[in-house]
Amino acid sequence: MVQSERKIPKDAPVIAIDGPSASGKGTVAMAVALQLGLHYLDSGAIYRVIGLAASRTGLDLDQESAIAAMSLNIKISFINERVFWADEDVTDAIRTEPMGAAASRVAAHPGVRQAVLQWQRDFCKSPGLVADGRDMGSVVFPAAKLKIFLTASVEARALRRYKQLKSKGLDANIDSLLLELTLRDQRDSERAVAPLQRFADAIEVDTTQLSVVESVEKVLLLCEAAGIRSRGLS
Ligand code: C5P
Repeated sequence: MVQSERKIPKDAPVIAIDGPSASGKGTVAMAVALQLGLHYLDSGAIYRVIGLAASRTGLDLDQESAIAAMSLNIKISFINERVFWADEDVTDAIRTEPMGAAASRVAAHPGVRQAVLQWQRDFCKSPGLVADGRDMGSVVFPAAKLKIFLTASVEARALRRYKQLKSKGLDANIDSLLLELTLRDQRDSERAVAPLQRFADAIEVDTTQLSVVESVEKVLLLCEAAGIRSRGLS
C-alpha cells in the first residue's frame, strides 16, 4: 500500500460515519455519497481484506508485526462497488461473519492501523468524502465537517444481518449472530487503539426504528445543516 504525505484538501468536506457492526453504516454512507456526488470509503473492507489475506497465508491473527508488514504492501482496490485483493474479487468472501471477526482481530493491532492510516486519508479528494468505520471521526479524519455515530439496538442489527444473509441464500442463525455481533462490538470498544466510541463531537443517529430510506434522509438533513450539499458545494 503506497503511503503519501499529501495533506487533506481544504475543498473536500468529510462526512465521518462511525458505529457498531451491522448498524447500516455502509448502506447509508454509500447512499449519502451517491446523493451528494462525493467519494466513498468503506474502511471496514480494508481490515476485512487484511484479515482474509492473513488467514489465507496462514498467519496467526495475533502476530502483530507480521500482519502489519503485510498490510504495508497489500494491494486492495475498490472498483465499481467491488473490493479486490490484488486481482481477486473478494467482495463476497470478506462479508461473512468469520471474516468480520478476523477483521476485528487484525484491526486491534496498532501497527496494522498505522500501516493503513495515510492510505485511508488519501481517499479524501475534491469534492469530498463519506467515510464509514469505527475511527473515521476520531483518528483518520478528526477535522471532519460532520461526524455521525450511527447505531441501532443489537437485536435490530442481528435481525438485519440475518435477513441479509438469508436473502443471499446463506445459512444464518439469529442467536449465533446476536452473540457474534456482541463479541465483535465488545472487542472493538475495549481495544486500546482507536476503540469504537461515541465521541462528544459526533451526532448520534439511532436507526433501530428507521428504514434505510429514513436513515439516509436523516443523515442528508444533517449534511445540509452542516452546509454540505450536492457535490460538496456549500
Ligand atoms: O465495518 P465492518 O463490519 O466491515 O468492519 C469490520 C471490522 O473492522 C470491525 O469489527 C472493526 O474491528 C474493524 N474496523 C476498524 N476500524 C474501522 C473500520 C473497521 O477497526 N475504521
